Amino acid sequence: MAFAGGRSAKDLIERFRHARQDRGRVVLEGFHAVKHALRFHAEIEHACASDRTALEALTGRLAPDVQSALTRLVRFVPRLVFAELAPVPPDTSVIAIARRPSVDLSAVFDGPGAAPIVLLEAPAHLGNLGAAVRVAAAAGAAAVVTTGPRDPWHPAALRGAAGLHFALPVAAIEGVPALRHRPLLAIHPDGECLRPDMLPDGAVLAFGSERRGLSDGVLAAADRQIALPMRPGVSSLNLASAVAAVLYAWRLAGRGWHLPQPPD
Ligand SMILES: C[S@@+](CC[C@H](N)C(=O)[O-])C[C@H]1O[C@@H](n2cnc3c(N)ncnc32)[C@H](O)[C@@H]1O
Repeated sequence: MAFAGGRSAKDLIERFRHARQDRGRVVLEGFHAVKHALRFHAEIEHACASDRTALEALTGRLAPDVQSALTRLVRFVPRLVFAELAPVPPDTSVIAIARRPSVDLSAVFDGPGAAPIVLLEAPAHLGNLGAAVRVAAAAGAAAVVTTGPRDPWHPAALRGAAGLHFALPVAAIEGVPALRHRPLLAIHPDGECLRPDMLPDGAVLAFGSERRGLSDGVLAAADRQIALPMRPGVSSLNLASAVAAVLYAWRLAGRGWHLPQPPD
């Protein structure tokens, strides 16, 4: 069966399968991921949907600003073909392949600016990782970097972030780099109780993994350990909730951290 552009169903299925293994590409599953990717200028190579009426209704209601871009990009494919494009096809019946942007890590760490960098040490759950990227984008953080084996651009992380990876630099790093200009703050349940004046400009905020928390190495290297107060009996917050609480403590303190301008 051939589609617009002469592409056969088999070819399309193979392209999506291949994109999942390709470090230069990412798969965007679902309407919100595709919408944000478009808003933040992702380079989308292929986009497919199976239900024209549903997609037009969703776009009209939630994202009229990307309607013309989506209309240009999307190829409509039969439901049975769409079902083969993802292990769990998204309910919103739209999926895309985009190029993964390259991140200049020295520009991230040595760059100016008051916004903090979020460092996730070996996050285990891709949904948490994505939720952390989402709140970092919303709050105006400078970047999200991760250590450990999880790919921060995995389709499940992109789904958790609703595609907001394209709004700020997101990258995997080998380990915590030597920081020349930025203070390193370990966000840790046993630290000092957070007050907004404890969050200096340009800090790297390090959050630990879901089970083990922060490593001894990061705790030892940190300039300060900071805790979010909790009532007795509660062991810890969920990772992404902790990221949200600290980033918004910073925002609400109004310390000269300006949100990036909206995309054109
Ligand atoms: C689910 S918690 C890890 C819990 C782990 N058992 C521990 O003791 O650190 C994941 C990460 O969220 C952050 N976090 C969660 N609750 C926190 C709190 N009350 N204060 C500071 N950080 C917290 C920390 O960075 C932590 O490493």
